[in-house]
Amino acid sequence: MIALCLILFSLLPLGQLTCNPCCSNPCQHRGICMTKGFDGYECDCTRTGYYGRNCNTPEFFTWLKTTLKPTPTTVHYILTHFRVVWNIINHIQYLRNAIMGYVLMSRSHLIESPPTYNSKYGYKSWEVFANLSYYARALPPVPPDCPTPLGVKGKKELPDSKVIVERLLLRRKFIPDPQGTNLMFAFFAQHFTHQFFKTDFHRGPAFTNAIGHGVDLNHVYGVTLERQAKLRLFKYGKLKYQMIRGEMYPLTVKETQAEMNYAPSVPEHLKFAVGHEVFGLVPGLMMYAILWFREHNRVCDILMREHPEWEDEQLFQTARLILIGETIKIVIEDYVQHLSGYHFNLKFDPEILFTHRFQYQNRITTEFNTLYHWHSLLPETFLIQDEEYTYQQFMFNNSILLDHGLSEVVRAFSRQSAGRISGGRNIPAVVQHVAKASIDHSRKMRYQSLNAYRKHFLLQPFKSFEDLTGEKEMAAELEELYGDIDAVELYPGLIVERPRPNAIFGETIIELGAPFSLKGLMGNAICSPEYWKPSTFGGKVGFDIVNTASIYKLVCNNAKGCPVTAFHVINPKTAATINVSTSRAARDEVNRAVLLKKPYAEL
Ligand code: HEM
Ligand SMILES: *[C@@H]1O[C@H](CO)[C@@H](O)[C@H](O)[C@H]1NC(C)=O
Ligand SMILES: *[C@@H]1O[C@H](CO)[C@@H](O)[C@H](O)[C@H]1NC(C)=O
Repeated sequence: MIALCLILFSLLPLGQLTCNPCCSNPCQHRGICMTKGFDGYECDCTRTGYYGRNCNTPEFFTWLKTTLKPTPTTVHYILTHFRVVWNIINHIQYLRNAIMGYVLMSRSHLIESPPTYNSKYGYKSWEVFANLSYYARALPPVPPDCPTPLGVKGKKELPDSKVIVERLLLRRKFIPDPQGTNLMFAFFAQHFTHQFFKTDFHRGPAFTNAIGHGVDLNHVYGVTLERQAKLRLFKYGKLKYQMIRGEMYPLTVKETQAEMNYAPSVPEHLKFAVGHEVFGLVPGLMMYAILWFREHNRVCDILMREHPEWEDEQLFQTARLILIGETIKIVIEDYVQHLSGYHFNLKFDPEILFTHRFQYQNRITTEFNTLYHWHSLLPETFLIQDEEYTYQQFMFNNSILLDHGLSEVVRAFSRQSAGRISGGRNIPAVVQHVAKASIDHSRKMRYQSLNAYRKHFLLQPFKSFEDLTGEKEMAAELEELYGDIDAVELYPGLIVERPRPNAIFGETIIELGAPFSLKGLMGNAICSPEYWKPSTFGGKVGFDIVNTASIYKLVCNNAKGCPVTAFHVINPKTAATINVSTSRAARDEVNRAVLLKKPYAEL
């Protein structure tokens, strides 16, 4: 490794006198590289299960475990096949809990907790731990004094990010997601994740404004107490509201003095003020903002009946904890369940982890943010009732919600298919600048390569460009641009990766994303033993709201007429057979049965 570094070093222009041997990532199996003197290094293999100069030799138990461990592809295959067997397992609570416990632990042990690095510090430092304004990093930045931007592999200069976007990421023709994902999902994803992906662009891509680093519902209540105060009624625990045609809406920017980033052309009476400043951007975000806002006030009414003795503050705080619980329940059992395509029924039950060693804390990483840039979900136009809206008509246009009514917008988003995320060439032209920015920001923060991330998350590095894309044409383009498979960058790699059969994602996005996601959800304070009990949520009634939450109920309880919804495209005929008292299991069964038989385009 040192030899490689010296050869590369000898090719460098004179005057650049240091060559950091850690540039070549010599330490394997999550061992930590530390420089020693100006041209030496040491691998710290402590508790990796490996030893030797480069942490290459497995200890006996490590060898045994890795030999017996099935590959992610095998595990995925098992979980997405054998429906009959899974239907039985799903009903045996003991087995279901054991499997869910295994899923949670095997994923979350891949996340360092407390966090170890950020984009400034590639070594442990108190600043990493204590300064919450930074996003954390799963992998340290490439050291500043390396021969190439990705360490030692690849060209001295990376390909133009605009060219990468145009050749490999930009949509030619809309590719619908074969898992049937709809726009209710796409906007839920955007709405949900913007509470913890809230980059502080004044400081730069390494910094976040969402210092709660997780599911704290700051997008409903505001990040600061000051903003929260502007949105609160300070009576009955509720948020300030107005009634429009018999339905509840937030007050406006003018009325609350809570700033929002609306386009100047938006009329005052349509500038609704909600927790997150950018949620006026698209009606999809505002739809969810209104649903959660109504849910908060609805939960306050229920709590008030249970606790007429409580003051505003306790009602407000308890309702917030209930909504956090509902969110996590919906994300695990509806949202992740849908994305996974598993026949195994995922379960949100914090008690499963009480017998394991688990840290109830979380820090959002920039890599998680990068891999969540799912703009390929977006369609070319938005179909609502008999109208077709272009982005120009759709963006910043809250009157769409009022003119059609929120329930009709739910119906429309439930029917319209979202795009496939992996597989390349499916990012709509209107947001291509966002894809370019993801690449540019990753470079600024000195991300390591796609293959370095694969190794960190216990995947085999890709061996060739065709191994990555599963086809020849994009593989050739990539080869021309990057030259070396070990020099492919994280974001373009994730997006062009060959999807799994009939799936929205390739392997890497799941194997990196699932650990971040599950750690973030289960690491929430409400999942800890002292919080996870009925009294935290105002008693049995509140606890039940959390434990029975679903996307269907969130919508049904808060949109007029209880429109049927899910995270996948629903057959309108099927929708008609479902009502409030249909259990979620039954609803999902009906939907899945329909989905298996017909392509979505025909529904
Ligand atoms: C209506 C459509 C959408 C538009 C116009 C849009 C536009 C944007 C823009 C302009 C940015 C900031 C880019 C930058 O400067 O780095 C952004 C960030 C982002 N978008 Fe979207 N987006 C849309 C939908 C979505 C959806 C459906 C998702 C799904 C997950 C998503 C996920 C993200 C994420 C994770 C970020 C990073 C946020 C941050 O770091 O603060 N977006 N988007
Ligand atoms: C965190 O670090 C940034 C950049 O060094 C600095 O501007 C900020 O003041 C720090 N925040 C705190 C709370 O120390
Ligand atoms: C906003 O949506 C309404 C329909 O609700 C439409 O009539 C109007 O033209 C849209 N506004 C813009 C600026 O496109």
